[in-house]
This record gives sequence, structure tokens and C-alpha cells, in this order.
Amino acid sequence: MTTTTATAPGKVILFGEHAVVYARPAIAVPVANVKATATLTDAPVGTGCTIAAPDIGANIRLSSHRQDPLALAVRLAIEETGIEAEPDWQLTVRSDIPIAGGMGSGAAVSAALAKAVFAHSRFSAQHRHTAETVNRIVYEVEKLHHAHPSGIDNTVVVYAQPVWFVRGQPPQRFYISRPFHLVIADTGIASSTAAVVSDVRRAWERDSLVYEDIFDGIGEIVADARQAIVSGDVAALGPLMRENQHLLRQLDVSSEELERLIAIAEDAGASGAKLSGAGRGGNLICVVEPDSVDEVRKALQAAGAAGTVVTQVGS
Ligand code: PMV
Repeated sequence: MTTTTATAPGKVILFGEHAVVYARPAIAVPVANVKATATLTDAPVGTGCTIAAPDIGANIRLSSHRQDPLALAVRLAIEETGIEAEPDWQLTVRSDIPIAGGMGSGAAVSAALAKAVFAHSRFSAQHRHTAETVNRIVYEVEKLHHAHPSGIDNTVVVYAQPVWFVRGQPPQRFYISRPFHLVIADTGIASSTAAVVSDVRRAWERDSLVYEDIFDGIGEIVADARQAIVSGDVAALGPLMRENQHLLRQLDVSSEELERLIAIAEDAGASGAKLSGAGRGGNLICVVEPDSVDEVRKALQAAGAAGTVVTQVGS
């Protein structure tokens, strides 16, 4: 019996969520401190393929849950390998990425599962472009979660690299000349990306000129942020986060709890903070000078954040 393990990191969108659905750029980075881990073990002959996700109490058979997201990731990966009969496999996936919090947990789980299938079947060893294939599979699964995924989550999680992302264009990696620290805090409020993205779409349909203007404004902030990151102007990032958050508020995707925690982080010394991901709940991110990291983290914890993660972007 052999066991194969594969992982995929979490991610945060630094700048540009929502506008990215409307063809503006966004910047996202992997968060390696949290990850999804899939293990694949050969099971006794004739038992078929089962997938367990103990964190969410799921234990499903591949053959009877064709449209389940976990099963879809595994099935698409198996199809890609050319294996025809259902293999006798036990897959288990665990994740410490907060669920429905804007940290790409769904994409990371799909990526870890697809990577485990490819590694176990030696597909990865025989094909040079495995990452592209995993990316395509994870994107298909993301469509189950919401109808119009921009593709940013799967791209960052699969390549585990900071990316500049424009829908429909190949993702660009870019150089981080000076590392910076983020404190990520979870509001503890689960938020459905599908619901928030649909609300923004309805509002955009009603009032497209206003919304297009906001998206343009966000696009400009994202371009400035890239310039700041590439040139090592870390001090510019906080104010850009504040501006981005201001426009996200105008899109009506913030919430009282996000605003409360953002204010607490900024009072405790964060240079800037904003929601990350779909909004209404989920996570906020704060750009923080190294000597303020502890203070900001403690203030957020004391204010009731459901969890905090500190990560360094760039090395
Ligand atoms: O909440 P998340 O991490 O799934 O991020 C959603 C980001 C959006 O821009 C709101 C939607 C998308 O598909 O890019």
C-alpha cells in the first residue's frame, strides 16, 4: 500500500477583489502558514474510490456524488490521467484554512486533491505542464461555488506564487523587492462568495456607469500597488489599502464587523487594512511594520477576531 501526500497553500487577495470579475487587475499572494493537505492511499481491491474530509464531516463515494466539489476535483483529475475504471483509493483531505473566509480554502482543497491524484498515478512525473492542468481542474470546481469566478483563487493557490491577475490573460508573476508583513484576521462570519458576487452583479446591472467608475478606481489602486511592491515602497501599501477599502465600501461589500476590526487594526498601528475576498464577512488583511505586528495581532484578538494569521509576503 502506498500513500501519496500533496498540499496547497491558502491565499489572500491584496488588492482588486470584485473589480477583477469585471476585467480589472488584482494582486493576490499565497499564505503558506495555512494549507490544505490531501493524502491518497491504495484501498483493497473492489472498494472503489472514497473521499473523506473530516473537518467538514464529509465521507463520500466518488461514484455516487458526481457533482460534489471534492468528487468533481478527483474525477476530473482521474479523467486527465486516462485511468478508465474507478480506482480503489481512499483520499483524505484536511485543511487549516478558514472555510468561507476569503482565503481560498475551496480552491486549495481541490488543488491538493488533484495534485495527489496526479502524483499517485505518476501523471506529474510524465507531464511537464501539470500545474496548468491542476489550475484548469480547480477552476472548473470553483464554478460550482459561483457562476463567475475570475480565476484568481485557483491561480494563486495552484502556482503558490504572488500574481498579478487579469481575467482571461495569463497570470503574471512579479518581483517583490522588499518583503512586508500582513496580519490576517477572521471576522468569524462566514460569507458566501456566490451571494456577494451576485449582489454586486445586480447592482452593476442597475447602475453600470457608477459601478464601472468604482471598478476603474480600484484598477488604478491595484496598478499603483504593483508599482509600490516592485519598487520596494512598502510605506505606500497602507494608504493604498485604505483607498481600496473605501471603494469596497461603496460597492456595499463591507460590513459592520469588518469596519470595526479594520478601525481597531489601524488604531493599533497597522499602516492600512481592508477586507480580503468577497467581503460581508470573512477576513480582513492589514499591512503592518514588523515592530507593530504583535500589537496589531493582540488588538484584533482582544476585539474578538475569530483567528489571526501573520505572514510575510516575499522573502
Ligand atoms: O472570497 P474569495 O476568496 O473566494 O474571493 C472572491 C474574490 C472575488 O473577486 C469577489 C470573486 C472572484 O471570483 O474573483
